[in-house]
Amino acid sequence: MNKEIIIAPSLLAADFSRLKEEVIEIGKTRAKWLHLDVMDGNFVPNISFGADIIKAIRPHSNLYFDAHLMIEKPEWYIESIVKAGADNITIHVESTKHLHRALQLIKSYGVKAGVSINPSTDIDFLDNVIEVLDLILVMTVNPGFGGQKFIDAMCQKIKRIREKYPHIDIQVDGGINNKTAILAKNAGANVLVAGSYVFSGNYEERVNSLF
Ligand code: DX5
Ligand code: ZN
Repeated sequence: MNKEIIIAPSLLAADFSRLKEEVIEIGKTRAKWLHLDVMDGNFVPNISFGADIIKAIRPHSNLYFDAHLMIEKPEWYIESIVKAGADNITIHVESTKHLHRALQLIKSYGVKAGVSINPSTDIDFLDNVIEVLDLILVMTVNPGFGGQKFIDAMCQKIKRIREKYPHIDIQVDGGINNKTAILAKNAGANVLVAGSYVFSGNYEERVNSLF
């Protein structure tokens, strides 16, 4: 089945000294989502930003706020991320002992719930949580940093997920550019995150080149 292609520029690659302007500029493109990478320096070896930054930019954007939590104990922070204005919260299966409960908590606030899987993580567990899932995020790099190289082998994983779950949103994140976007879409992904590729050129042209 053909799902709508959605482009989600990642704020991680924006100029942090001009966040408001960056969010406004990206809002003028055909991107529908804004991907928000929250990192704690523990689950991943990098620290980015949290709920306060999301709250500060929320009034300047009509985009769908797609929060990707790369943090330990995500359940402690879900409420504040919702209150900051997230429309979707994605957590890592490797980051919590109670994935199903954490996903239920996200849904209880009336926002969409996603699960993210690292390159080394297999997909069998998805059957156990699919009833509370709106989105599956397949990491195509190891999480923590922008600007890394797309791991081609993840396309097989995307294909297997698409065969099992024809209707769910499958998001790809890491190393997406105009060439790797084609590989990801052919494998079955329909939500494409792109950080350094979009923010290192003309935003409108770069976004258009990913459809
Ligand atoms: C990496 C983040 C990504 C990152 C992608 O851990 O989850 O969202 O911003 O950056 P690029 O597109 O540069 O690989
Ligand atoms: Zn991300």
